[in-house]
Amino acid sequence: MSFPTVRPRRLRRTPAIRSLVRETTLAPGNLVLPLFFSARIDSPKPIGTMPGIFQLPVHAAAEHARMAQSLGLGGVILFGLPATKDANGSGACDPEGPVPRAIAAMKDAAPELVVMADVCVDEYTDHGHCGILRPNARGELEVDNDATLEVLARASLVYARAGADVIAPSDMMDGRVGAIREALDEEGYTQTAILSYAVKYASAYYGPFRDAADCAPQFGDRAGYQMDPGNAREALREARLDEEEGADMLMVKPALAYLDILARLREATTLPLGAYNVSGEYAMIKAAAAAGMLDEKRATIELLTSIRRAGADFILTYHANDVAKLLG
Ligand code: PBG
Repeated sequence: MSFPTVRPRRLRRTPAIRSLVRETTLAPGNLVLPLFFSARIDSPKPIGTMPGIFQLPVHAAAEHARMAQSLGLGGVILFGLPATKDANGSGACDPEGPVPRAIAAMKDAAPELVVMADVCVDEYTDHGHCGILRPNARGELEVDNDATLEVLARASLVYARAGADVIAPSDMMDGRVGAIREALDEEGYTQTAILSYAVKYASAYYGPFRDAADCAPQFGDRAGYQMDPGNAREALREARLDEEEGADMLMVKPALAYLDILARLREATTLPLGAYNVSGEYAMIKAAAAAGMLDEKRATIELLTSIRRAGADFILTYHANDVAKLLG
Protein backbone atom coordinates (compact mmCIF):
# COMPACT_ATOMS: atom_id res chain seq x y z
CA MET A 1 0.00 0.00 0.00
CA SER A 2 1.17 3.48 -0.74
CA PHE A 3 0.02 7.03 -1.39
CA PRO A 4 -2.77 8.17 -1.54
CA THR A 5 -4.04 5.47 0.86
CA VAL A 6 -1.00 5.84 3.08
CA ARG A 7 -0.46 9.33 4.50
CA PRO A 8 2.14 9.59 7.32
CA ARG A 9 1.05 13.18 7.92
CA ARG A 10 -2.17 11.88 9.61
CA LEU A 11 -0.05 11.18 12.68
CA ARG A 12 1.51 14.66 12.67
CA ARG A 13 -1.70 16.67 12.65
CA THR A 14 -1.92 17.83 16.27
CA PRO A 15 0.36 18.07 19.31
CA ALA A 16 -1.70 15.34 21.00
CA ILE A 17 -1.32 12.87 18.13
CA ARG A 18 2.38 13.65 17.83
CA SER A 19 2.77 13.07 21.54
CA LEU A 20 0.89 9.75 21.33
CA VAL A 21 3.25 8.34 18.70
CA ARG A 22 6.51 9.89 19.93
CA GLU A 23 9.16 7.16 20.11
CA THR A 24 11.77 8.92 22.26
CA THR A 25 11.09 10.99 25.36
CA LEU A 26 13.25 13.23 27.49
CA ALA A 27 12.55 13.65 31.21
CA PRO A 28 14.47 15.27 34.10
CA GLY A 29 15.08 11.75 35.45
CA ASN A 30 17.22 11.03 32.34
CA LEU A 31 19.62 13.86 33.17
CA VAL A 32 22.70 13.86 35.41
CA LEU A 33 24.24 17.21 36.35
CA PRO A 34 28.06 17.51 36.63
CA LEU A 35 29.20 19.74 39.53
CA PHE A 36 32.67 21.12 40.29
CA PHE A 37 33.59 21.50 43.98
CA SER A 38 36.70 23.48 44.79
CA ALA A 39 38.68 23.64 48.02
CA ARG A 40 40.17 26.94 46.84
CA ILE A 41 37.14 29.23 46.82
CA ASP A 42 34.55 30.54 49.23
CA SER A 43 31.90 31.69 46.78
CA PRO A 44 30.79 30.38 43.35
CA LYS A 45 33.25 31.23 40.58
CA PRO A 46 31.99 31.47 36.98
CA ILE A 47 33.77 29.29 34.40
CA GLY A 48 34.60 31.52 31.43
CA THR A 49 34.32 28.83 28.76
CA MET A 50 31.03 27.44 30.12
CA PRO A 51 28.48 30.26 30.53
CA GLY A 52 26.07 29.53 33.39
CA ILE A 53 28.36 26.95 35.06
CA PHE A 54 30.35 27.66 38.24
CA GLN A 55 33.07 26.15 40.38
CA LEU A 56 31.40 25.77 43.77
CA PRO A 57 32.62 25.96 47.36
CA VAL A 58 31.89 22.82 49.38
CA HIS A 59 29.43 24.67 51.62
CA ALA A 60 27.14 25.10 48.56
CA ALA A 61 26.74 21.31 48.22
CA ALA A 62 23.58 20.92 50.33
CA GLU A 63 21.73 23.65 48.45
CA HIS A 64 22.65 22.14 45.07
CA ALA A 65 21.58 18.68 46.24
CA ARG A 66 18.16 19.98 47.28
CA MET A 67 17.78 21.80 43.95
CA ALA A 68 18.71 18.69 41.92
CA GLN A 69 16.31 16.58 43.95
CA SER A 70 13.43 19.03 43.64
CA LEU A 71 13.96 19.26 39.86
CA GLY A 72 13.73 15.46 39.70
CA LEU A 73 17.17 15.00 38.13
CA GLY A 74 18.45 11.47 37.61
CA GLY A 75 21.50 12.38 39.67
CA VAL A 76 24.60 14.51 40.01
CA ILE A 77 28.25 13.68 39.29
CA LEU A 78 30.98 15.37 41.29
CA PHE A 79 34.42 16.62 40.24
CA GLY A 80 36.98 18.14 42.61
CA LEU A 81 39.54 20.93 42.60
CA PRO A 82 41.90 20.28 45.52
CA ALA A 83 43.78 22.88 47.56
CA THR A 84 47.13 21.51 46.35
CA LYS A 85 48.36 19.08 43.70
CA ASP A 86 51.31 16.67 43.52
CA ALA A 87 52.89 14.24 41.06
CA ASN A 88 50.91 11.24 42.36
CA GLY A 89 47.52 12.93 42.62
CA SER A 90 47.32 11.95 46.27
CA GLY A 91 44.61 14.58 46.84
CA ALA A 92 42.21 12.22 45.03
CA CYS A 93 42.38 9.94 48.10
CA ASP A 94 42.07 12.64 50.77
CA PRO A 95 38.93 11.99 52.86
CA GLU A 96 38.88 15.72 53.65
CA GLY A 97 39.05 16.67 49.95
CA PRO A 98 36.25 18.68 48.30
CA VAL A 99 34.56 15.66 46.70
CA PRO A 100 34.10 13.41 49.77
CA ARG A 101 32.99 16.42 51.83
CA ALA A 102 30.48 17.45 49.16
CA ILE A 103 29.19 13.87 48.80
CA ALA A 104 28.50 13.63 52.53
CA ALA A 105 26.76 17.03 52.58
CA MET A 106 24.63 16.15 49.54
CA LYS A 107 23.53 12.77 50.89
CA ASP A 108 22.60 14.46 54.19
CA ALA A 109 20.59 17.19 52.48
CA ALA A 110 18.90 15.01 49.83
CA PRO A 111 19.16 11.32 50.75
CA GLU A 112 17.12 10.22 47.70
CA LEU A 113 19.38 11.97 45.19
CA VAL A 114 21.74 9.67 43.24
CA VAL A 115 25.24 10.98 43.91
CA MET A 116 28.02 9.84 41.58
CA ALA A 117 31.73 10.49 42.04
CA ASP A 118 33.98 10.83 39.00
CA VAL A 119 37.22 8.96 39.70
CA CYS A 120 40.38 10.16 37.98
CA VAL A 121 43.61 11.74 39.15
CA ASP A 122 43.99 14.44 36.49
CA GLU A 123 42.40 17.12 38.69
CA TYR A 124 44.86 16.17 41.45
CA THR A 125 48.17 15.74 39.59
CA ASP A 126 50.48 18.72 39.06
CA HIS A 127 51.25 17.43 35.52
CA GLY A 128 47.51 17.06 34.67
CA HIS A 129 47.68 13.48 33.35
CA CYS A 130 45.13 10.84 34.34
CA GLY A 131 47.69 8.60 36.05
CA ILE A 132 51.02 8.12 37.76
CA LEU A 133 54.02 8.89 35.51
CA ARG A 134 57.03 6.59 35.14
CA PRO A 135 59.95 6.83 32.71
CA ASN A 136 59.73 4.25 29.91
CA ALA A 137 62.71 2.37 28.44
CA ARG A 138 63.75 5.50 26.49
CA GLY A 139 63.53 7.67 29.58
CA GLU A 140 60.34 9.48 28.51
CA LEU A 141 57.58 9.93 31.07
CA GLU A 142 54.51 7.78 30.46
CA VAL A 143 51.36 7.03 32.41
CA ASP A 144 51.95 3.77 34.28
CA ASN A 145 48.72 1.80 34.02
CA ASP A 146 49.16 -0.66 36.87
CA ALA A 147 50.56 1.84 39.37
CA THR A 148 47.55 4.06 38.65
CA LEU A 149 45.03 1.29 39.42
CA GLU A 150 46.03 1.32 43.07
CA VAL A 151 45.33 5.08 43.43
CA LEU A 152 42.00 4.78 41.59
CA ALA A 153 40.89 1.96 43.91
CA ARG A 154 41.88 3.95 47.01
CA ALA A 155 40.08 7.08 45.76
CA SER A 156 36.95 5.03 44.99
CA LEU A 157 36.92 3.71 48.57
CA VAL A 158 37.15 7.25 49.94
CA TYR A 159 34.10 8.29 47.88
CA ALA A 160 32.18 5.12 48.80
CA ARG A 161 32.84 5.72 52.50
CA ALA A 162 31.59 9.31 52.10
CA GLY A 163 28.31 7.89 50.76
CA ALA A 164 28.56 7.94 46.95
CA ASP A 165 25.94 5.75 45.28
CA VAL A 166 27.96 5.37 42.08
CA ILE A 167 31.70 5.37 41.35
CA ALA A 168 32.49 6.58 37.83
CA PRO A 169 36.09 5.99 36.66
CA SER A 170 37.00 8.30 33.74
CA ASP A 171 40.73 7.59 33.47
CA MET A 172 40.77 4.87 30.73
CA MET A 173 43.39 2.68 32.46
CA ASP A 174 43.09 -1.02 31.57
CA GLY A 175 41.69 -3.14 34.39
CA ARG A 176 40.41 -0.32 36.55
CA VAL A 177 36.83 -1.51 36.79
CA GLY A 178 37.98 -4.87 38.18
CA ALA A 179 40.44 -3.23 40.57
CA ILE A 180 37.78 -0.83 41.89
CA ARG A 181 35.12 -3.58 42.22
CA GLU A 182 37.54 -5.73 44.20
CA ALA A 183 38.51 -2.88 46.55
CA LEU A 184 34.87 -1.93 47.16
CA ASP A 185 33.78 -5.51 47.82
CA GLU A 186 36.69 -6.18 50.16
CA GLU A 187 35.52 -3.35 52.40
CA GLY A 188 31.87 -4.37 52.25
CA TYR A 189 30.71 -1.77 49.69
CA THR A 190 29.03 -4.47 47.63
CA GLN A 191 26.06 -2.18 46.87
CA THR A 192 28.10 0.73 45.49
CA ALA A 193 27.63 0.71 41.72
CA ILE A 194 30.25 1.34 39.03
CA LEU A 195 29.46 3.49 36.01
CA SER A 196 32.39 2.99 33.66
CA TYR A 197 33.43 5.66 31.18
CA ALA A 198 34.04 2.56 29.07
CA VAL A 199 34.28 4.33 25.73
CA LYS A 200 36.07 7.63 26.12
CA TYR A 201 37.64 9.25 23.09
CA ALA A 202 40.64 11.61 23.01
CA SER A 203 38.49 14.61 22.16
CA ALA A 204 38.90 18.33 21.48
CA TYR A 205 35.44 18.75 23.02
CA TYR A 206 36.88 18.46 26.55
CA GLY A 207 38.59 21.85 26.19
CA PRO A 208 36.22 23.91 28.36
CA PHE A 209 36.16 21.22 31.08
CA ARG A 210 39.92 21.40 31.44
CA ASP A 211 39.42 25.07 32.19
CA ALA A 212 36.57 24.27 34.61
CA ALA A 213 38.47 21.56 36.47
CA ASP A 214 41.93 23.08 35.96
CA CYS A 215 43.31 19.79 34.63
CA ALA A 216 44.87 20.42 31.20
CA PRO A 217 47.93 18.16 30.72
CA GLN A 218 51.12 20.17 31.22
CA PHE A 219 52.88 18.26 28.42
CA GLY A 220 51.77 15.89 25.67
CA ASP A 221 48.15 14.79 25.34
CA ARG A 222 45.84 11.98 26.44
CA ALA A 223 46.02 9.94 23.21
CA GLY A 224 48.10 7.26 24.97
CA TYR A 225 45.10 6.24 27.07
CA GLN A 226 41.94 7.76 25.57
CA MET A 227 40.54 6.27 22.36
CA ASP A 228 41.23 7.26 18.77
CA PRO A 229 38.15 9.01 17.29
CA GLY A 230 38.40 6.82 14.19
CA ASN A 231 37.72 3.60 16.08
CA ALA A 232 34.34 1.92 16.46
CA ARG A 233 35.13 -1.81 16.87
CA GLU A 234 37.49 -0.89 19.69
CA ALA A 235 34.54 0.72 21.50
CA LEU A 236 32.71 -2.61 21.54
CA ARG A 237 35.84 -4.28 22.87
CA GLU A 238 36.32 -1.72 25.67
CA ALA A 239 32.66 -2.05 26.64
CA ARG A 240 32.83 -5.86 26.73
CA LEU A 241 35.96 -5.83 28.91
CA ASP A 242 34.40 -3.43 31.41
CA GLU A 243 31.22 -5.47 31.52
CA GLU A 244 33.30 -8.60 32.25
CA GLU A 245 35.15 -6.76 35.02
CA GLY A 246 31.85 -5.96 36.73
CA ALA A 247 30.70 -2.55 35.48
CA ASP A 248 27.02 -1.96 36.31
CA MET A 249 26.56 0.78 33.70
CA LEU A 250 28.53 1.92 30.68
CA MET A 251 29.10 5.35 29.19
CA VAL A 252 30.11 6.81 25.85
CA LYS A 253 31.91 10.15 25.82
CA PRO A 254 31.61 12.63 24.11
CA ALA A 255 28.03 12.19 22.87
CA LEU A 256 27.26 14.19 19.73
CA ALA A 257 30.18 13.20 17.53
CA TYR A 258 29.73 9.55 18.66
CA LEU A 259 26.02 8.82 18.24
CA ASP A 260 26.88 5.92 15.94
CA ILE A 261 28.95 4.38 18.75
CA LEU A 262 26.04 4.75 21.17
CA ALA A 263 23.68 3.07 18.73
CA ARG A 264 26.06 0.16 18.17
CA LEU A 265 26.69 -0.27 21.88
CA ARG A 266 22.94 -0.23 22.54
CA GLU A 267 22.71 -3.35 20.36
CA ALA A 268 25.74 -5.00 21.95
CA THR A 269 24.97 -4.74 25.68
CA THR A 270 22.02 -5.12 28.01
CA LEU A 271 23.60 -2.83 30.63
CA PRO A 272 22.18 0.66 31.19
CA LEU A 273 23.95 3.08 28.91
CA GLY A 274 24.89 6.68 29.60
CA ALA A 275 26.32 9.39 27.34
CA TYR A 276 28.33 12.44 28.35
CA ASN A 277 27.19 15.60 26.56
CA VAL A 278 30.58 17.20 27.28
CA SER A 279 31.75 20.72 27.96
CA GLY A 280 32.61 21.57 24.34
CA GLU A 281 29.18 20.46 23.17
CA TYR A 282 27.64 22.71 25.82
CA ALA A 283 29.93 25.62 24.86
CA MET A 284 28.98 25.33 21.16
CA ILE A 285 25.27 25.74 21.94
CA LYS A 286 25.91 28.60 24.35
CA ALA A 287 28.19 30.45 21.92
CA ALA A 288 25.83 30.05 18.97
CA ALA A 289 22.85 31.15 21.07
CA ALA A 290 24.73 34.17 22.45
CA ALA A 291 25.58 35.18 18.88
CA GLY A 292 21.89 34.97 17.96
CA MET A 293 22.54 32.06 15.59
CA LEU A 294 20.38 29.38 17.24
CA ASP A 295 17.25 29.05 19.33
CA GLU A 296 18.98 27.75 22.47
CA LYS A 297 16.03 25.96 24.07
CA ARG A 298 14.89 24.14 20.94
CA ALA A 299 18.41 23.22 19.86
CA THR A 300 19.24 21.86 23.31
CA ILE A 301 16.11 19.69 23.57
CA GLU A 302 16.69 18.41 20.02
CA LEU A 303 20.31 17.46 20.77
CA LEU A 304 19.51 15.74 24.06
CA THR A 305 16.64 13.88 22.36
CA SER A 306 19.03 12.69 19.64
CA ILE A 307 21.35 11.25 22.31
CA ARG A 308 18.42 9.38 23.88
CA ARG A 309 17.24 8.20 20.43
CA ALA A 310 20.71 6.83 19.65
CA GLY A 311 20.44 4.61 22.73
CA ALA A 312 21.37 6.46 25.92
CA ASP A 313 19.26 5.74 29.00
CA PHE A 314 20.69 8.79 30.73
CA ILE A 315 22.76 11.82 29.78
CA LEU A 316 25.40 13.67 31.77
CA THR A 317 24.85 17.27 30.76
CA TYR A 318 25.53 20.82 31.93
CA HIS A 319 22.08 21.71 30.56
CA ALA A 320 20.41 19.46 33.19
CA ASN A 321 18.97 22.16 35.48
CA ASP A 322 17.77 24.41 32.63
CA VAL A 323 16.22 21.56 30.69
CA ALA A 324 14.58 20.04 33.78
CA LYS A 325 12.93 23.42 34.40
CA LEU A 326 11.77 23.60 30.76
CA LEU A 327 10.35 20.08 30.87
CA GLY A 328 8.63 20.98 34.14
C1 PBG B 1 38.88 13.35 33.29
C2 PBG B 1 37.62 13.90 32.72
C3 PBG B 1 37.51 14.79 31.65
C4 PBG B 1 36.14 15.04 31.49
C5 PBG B 1 35.47 14.30 32.45
N1 PBG B 1 36.41 13.59 33.19
C6 PBG B 1 38.54 15.52 30.89
C7 PBG B 1 39.53 14.82 30.10
O1 PBG B 1 39.53 13.60 29.90
O2 PBG B 1 40.39 15.54 29.64
C8 PBG B 1 35.55 15.92 30.44
C9 PBG B 1 34.15 16.35 30.66
C10 PBG B 1 33.72 17.45 29.77
O3 PBG B 1 34.40 17.88 28.84
O4 PBG B 1 32.61 17.95 30.02
N2 PBG B 1 38.86 13.34 34.69
